[in-house]
Amino acid sequence: MVETLTRSTRSEREEWINQAGFNLFSLRSDQVFIDLLTDSGTGAMSDRQWSEMMLGDESYAGASSYYKMKSAIQEITGFEYFLPTHQGRAAENVLFSALVSEGDIIPGNSHFDTTKGHIEFRKASAIDCTVDEAFDTNSVAPFKGNVDLNKLEDLLKSTPPGKIPFILLTLTNNNAGGQPVSMENIRSTSMLAKKHNTLLIIDSARFAENAWFIREREQGYEKGDIRKIIREIFSYADGMTMSSKKDAIVNMGGFVALRDEKLFREASVYNIMFEGFITYGGLSGRDMNALAQGLYEGTSSDYLNARIGQVAFLGDKLSGYGIPIQQPAGGHAIFVDALQFLPHVPREEFPAQKLAVELYLEGGIRSVEIGTLLADRDPVTRENRYPALEFVRLAIPRRVYTNNHMEYVAVALKNLFDRRETIKRGFAIRYEAPIMRHFTIELEAL
Ligand code: F0G
Repeated sequence: MVETLTRSTRSEREEWINQAGFNLFSLRSDQVFIDLLTDSGTGAMSDRQWSEMMLGDESYAGASSYYKMKSAIQEITGFEYFLPTHQGRAAENVLFSALVSEGDIIPGNSHFDTTKGHIEFRKASAIDCTVDEAFDTNSVAPFKGNVDLNKLEDLLKSTPPGKIPFILLTLTNNNAGGQPVSMENIRSTSMLAKKHNTLLIIDSARFAENAWFIREREQGYEKGDIRKIIREIFSYADGMTMSSKKDAIVNMGGFVALRDEKLFREASVYNIMFEGFITYGGLSGRDMNALAQGLYEGTSSDYLNARIGQVAFLGDKLSGYGIPIQQPAGGHAIFVDALQFLPHVPREEFPAQKLAVELYLEGGIRSVEIGTLLADRDPVTRENRYPALEFVRLAIPRRVYTNNHMEYVAVALKNLFDRRETIKRGFAIRYEAPIMRHFTIELEAL
């Protein structure tokens, strides 16, 4: 698809962002010139995916589209059982309904916000055992997405048996900057899970990008076949949740895949309750067809070279201008370090949100805050949870923009960087929801 982009003037953008309560989620898409809010569901489908849409089987039960999706999932992941869902958080809802009870603890490398939301909503705790090097944006390490195995094992040892239903590894680690997890780390986590009699579930939204990094960076996998690497990743896990809006390059869709029949049967009940019958789970037949095709395309080596290469292109431009970003560039996004970029804006005034709004005013570019607003309040104390880092995420949609657009983004950020000293005050909160506040928050400029 080719779409028209709409340009605007700075004074128009000033008015629009004011009306939006300085929340970039509240802008209309035609008020945005380059939309890097998310890489989720924003990719462009291929000619083959559109062709598959025409072949969708819309039968309520046992559609051929379901079997197409099943065979793609089996071939690519090796999991025997699967349930379609309408997106990733729906997969979390279905699986966690079967697995998570009040008082449980779910450790992981870094839970995505909806994942944490689904855990905390069930009065359980999501504990991030992120490696420390993820918090040093200047250090160049190959696998900053890893789980810290010592922190993880300490938690496993100190938690009463039966209270940890599973460990969750998120590939790639979105919150840490789209950083990959090594095969070694996945293998060791799986061994710890077995030793402590629990499961390993993989939040797989960007599993193909993760596999690409393993091939590029991990000893023993150089020149390896991406699909083989993917099969090995999943061989260590008991199940996966998937937001197909990322690495399966569809606009909507997700699934749960599992190895164990008993767990599959339990989760099936919730799938029927929340999503739809187990052979469509909230997806149209045509969507399942496009998703199956997208799984093959999203795991092809040529595609991944181009995709991650474009993210690295933007990262190199920004680094060249001296702009502080999480190093090295991630798989789906560049994470700008807002604490280094805007050191004068106090933490309580949300410096990453300030930078995101300034970038919108500068160039009509929409990004997203991955900082204190996203981190939400502590569910018990209701205090703001200040994460170690404040990021502005520039998420690159798949197969949508050219490198010329990336140059525009880089220059807009450079303009801001050149006058960063003049940016001193941030925002106060005018309205916030009790959970996942960043989506609907309203702010006041200070
Ligand atoms: N897990 C991860 C790692 C994610 O990044 C997301 C979504 C989800 C689960 C939930 O999937 O949106 O299909 O319900 N991430 C998007 C983002 C929204 O912008 O990073 P979903």
